[in-house]
This record gives sequence, C-alpha cells and structure tokens, in this order.
Amino acid sequence: MITMRLFKESDRAALIALWQACGLTRPWNDPDQDISFCIASPAASILVAEENGAVIGSAMVGHDGHRGWIYYLAVSPTQQKAGLGRKLMAAAEDWCRQRGVPKLMLMVRPENAAVRAFYETLGYGEEERVIFSRRLDGVD
Ligand SMILES: CC(C)(COP(=O)(O)OP(=O)(O)OC[C@H]1O[C@@H](n2cnc3c(N)ncnc32)[C@H](O)[C@@H]1OP(=O)(O)O)[C@@H](O)C(=O)NCCC(=O)NCCS
Repeated sequence: MITMRLFKESDRAALIALWQACGLTRPWNDPDQDISFCIASPAASILVAEENGAVIGSAMVGHDGHRGWIYYLAVSPTQQKAGLGRKLMAAAEDWCRQRGVPKLMLMVRPENAAVRAFYETLGYGEEERVIFSRRLDGVD
C-alpha cells in the first residue's frame, strides 16, 4: 500500500537517491541543503510517498506569501505511469488550499519537454512569462 506523509529525517538518503534516479539533481544545487532549507521553513513541506518502507515519490511544496511553488516532483522510474504523480500533485494542491494559497506554480526545464504533457493532463496551463533570476551565493 502506498502512503503519503511528510518527510522525516530518516528519508534523507533515500529521497536524494530518488531525485538522482529521476534526473532532478544538478551540480549547482545541493539536494541535501535543499532538504534542510525546506524543512526549516514554516511555509514549505516535503511530501513523501512510501511503499513497503521505501521512498517512491516526492513533492517539495511551499509558498512565498503569494503563490505556491512545487519542486522535486518525482516518482521512482519503476513506479511511473501508475497514477502516483497525479496523487502527489493533488496532495501539493491540498497543502496549498489548506493555507489559503490560490495558485500553484512550477517550472519545467527546457530539456524536460516530456513532462509538459503530464502537467497539461492535470489541468496546468503554460504561462507566457520570462523568468529572471540572479545567484546571490556567488555560484555561476
Ligand atoms: C513527472 C512524473 C512525476 C509523473 O509521474 P507519474 O506517476 O508517471 O504520473 P501519473 O501516472 O500520475 O500520470 C498522470 C497522467 O499524466 C500522464 N502522463 C504521465 N507522464 C506523461 C508523459 N511523460 N507524457 C504524457 N503523459 C504523461 C499519464 O498518462 C496520466 O494520464 P491519465 O491519468 O489520463 O492516464 C514522473 O514521470 C517523474 O518522476 N519524472 C521524472 C522527474 C520529473 O521530470 N519531474 C518533474 C520536474 S518539472
């Protein structure tokens, strides 16, 4: 049976392994630090899907006082296309609704074109916005 729950410290290594298996890590982002930063925030959570003691899915969700954002949406490659991604997104949406957040946003990397169809199936629409950013930590 798959259960959905909040992150606990003993998930850390398995969660990072899941993100790596799903191709979500990048050299300039430290997933360990991303976990620590997220769980220290009162406005963010990591939702974890567990089956038989194994971490098989995740969604990092938070809000910035205006919009909700989702990161690290992942389903174990061997468990994909069985409805878990949809359930994780629904759980992230509920998390936002419970906090009065009216809109959930996410970014898709250009090389991850395949996932667009997933979000479209779930009713997400592409916005015509350009995202500007600047590193504040000196990392290129
Ligand atoms: C994206 C991801 C979380 C989807 O999880 P999943 O468990 O496979 O998705 P689901 O089975 O819940 O799919 C929900 C619906 O989307 C559709 N869908 C899923 N992946 C799809 C794809 N690549 N292309 C087209 N449709 C897709 C499914 O067919 C399903 O439609 P249905 O309910 O009408 O049958 C998973 O593929 C993943 O972990 N990918 C790697 C990490 C990643 O890219 N994360 C997102 C970063 S922005």
